[in-house]
Amino acid sequence: MNIKSFVEAHLPQAPARVLEVGCGHGDLARAVSESGYEVVAIDPDAPEGELFQAVSLEEFATSAPFDAVVASRALHHIPDLAKSVMKIAGLLRQGGHFILDEHACDRLDDQTARWYFLHRIGEADAPGSLKACRAEWEADHADLHGYATMREELDRHFNELFFSWTPYLYGELANVEEEQERALIETGAIQAMGFRYVGEPKQGHGARFGHGLALCMAEPTVQTTPLQPLLRRSAAR
Ligand SMILES: C[S@@+](CC[C@H](N)C(=O)[O-])C[C@H]1O[C@@H](n2cnc3c(N)ncnc32)[C@H](O)[C@@H]1O
Repeated sequence: MNIKSFVEAHLPQAPARVLEVGCGHGDLARAVSESGYEVVAIDPDAPEGELFQAVSLEEFATSAPFDAVVASRALHHIPDLAKSVMKIAGLLRQGGHFILDEHACDRLDDQTARWYFLHRIGEADAPGSLKACRAEWEADHADLHGYATMREELDRHFNELFFSWTPYLYGELANVEEEQERALIETGAIQAMGFRYVGEPKQGHGARFGHGLALCMAEPTVQTTPLQPLLRRSAAR
């Protein structure tokens, strides 16, 4: 299933408010917008256009919650994962969906590395040995979050509604089709290096917006409603 079909299968009916985090060139955001959704797409390198804001997730602010947040191959790049996943939960209305398409770079085992290395032979920049291939992989992914770390943060703030392992390496290999990789994953010959996930914020972790203010950065365990300062003031009297 292509990314647009996967995302739209987990969106509420249009029109609904959708945020895409890490939109890159913006193809998915444009496609979802053309299906009738109200899309806001953010990325420090966002393209020009009505749908797009050239800001990071950390900088992004809004005054109304979203029905869905989508992130395709972006979450593993965001430096402060814990704060980012908490912020995404806080940007969603309770019951809204976080729709994620991701890379699981920490799942490269020996068999998968060998298969990946053999399919890179012949590339201009192919590593000279399996050992060099693994070293290159480690270096290229050192600053990125793997599945285990992302899963821990997702489980902190979201209840899972959907999960599947997916092929990923075919996107980096000139001579491998997605279905070939999927067949090898299904027989257990190689590991799945991608995953798709949909979750909804755990009770109390979704958006708390009030009085026109975005309260989405509040710690979910702290009850920061607009009434609290008033209650504190009256208690102090
Ligand atoms: C691998 S690209 C994926 C782009 C696009 N979603 C796709 O699937 O083709 C990762 C994107 O995440 C963006 N990104 C990295 N850090 C980010 C942050 N803190 N907030 C928002 N986007 C970020 C990058 O600028 C980049 O465009």
